[in-house]
Amino acid sequence: YQGNITIPVIVNILEDPAHPITQAHIDSQIDILNEDFNDLNPNTGGVPTEFNDDIADCNITFVLAGVNRKASTKSSWGTNDAMKYASQGGIDATDPTSFLNFWVCEIGGGILGYAQFPGGALETDGVVIGSDFFGENSRGGDYGYGRTATHEVGHWLNLRHIWGDGRCRQDDFVTDTPSSDRANYGCPSYPTVHCRTNDMTMNFMDYVNDNCMYMFTNGQNDRMRALFAAGGAREGFVQ
Ligand code: ARG
Ligand code: ZN
Ligand code: CA
Repeated sequence: YQGNITIPVIVNILEDPAHPITQAHIDSQIDILNEDFNDLNPNTGGVPTEFNDDIADCNITFVLAGVNRKASTKSSWGTNDAMKYASQGGIDATDPTSFLNFWVCEIGGGILGYAQFPGGALETDGVVIGSDFFGENSRGGDYGYGRTATHEVGHWLNLRHIWGDGRCRQDDFVTDTPSSDRANYGCPSYPTVHCRTNDMTMNFMDYVNDNCMYMFTNGQNDRMRALFAAGGAREGFVQ
């Protein structure tokens, strides 16, 4: 399927009074996703010449379809998916075959967010984001510009970390992302060389600061697109 894909988004918020999520946070997060998945990231001009032809317009539109709020004083939800079950104090997912569910809560442990890859259990399908890192958020510091959601939606659409979570020969199954053997942090200078090639540190699937990541590649786009083909794991999103 080659056309524009529209992803209806449900935002499930476990409200902690010390970390409020406003409508402005929600709206800015939707805007940021739409920038990043349509080659409209404001920093894309910083992509080095050698990677210019690799920049992808993924042609995916995110639309806010609903917001669910539930009071919670839990300050450390962890990563065991409790926030996805009403029976455990969380909020049940809204039909994950046709909605992208976000859960926004205090995760703890210094974790910005986490996602479920396609093909997993339906009731836990979606993306969890720490409340200070959702949308444009002054509490998030270097991670307060909404790129954790972009990165996690990349995982939700089957993308691996750009270094493949391993040594040089460990692949991310994408040919136009250079091999690397580690995550990069902060805002790396160019070139940053690992495995004898320049790292694509500005890729959304690295670990750099929000304002220092600003591209997906055409190969990553192909990998995401494959999910929307007939029989693909995210086929239910094609209208
Ligand atoms: N640590 C998280 C993960 O591996 C997210 C990293 C997001 N990085 C960022 N600059 N917001 O899924
Ligand atoms: Zn990741
Ligand atoms: Ca690669």
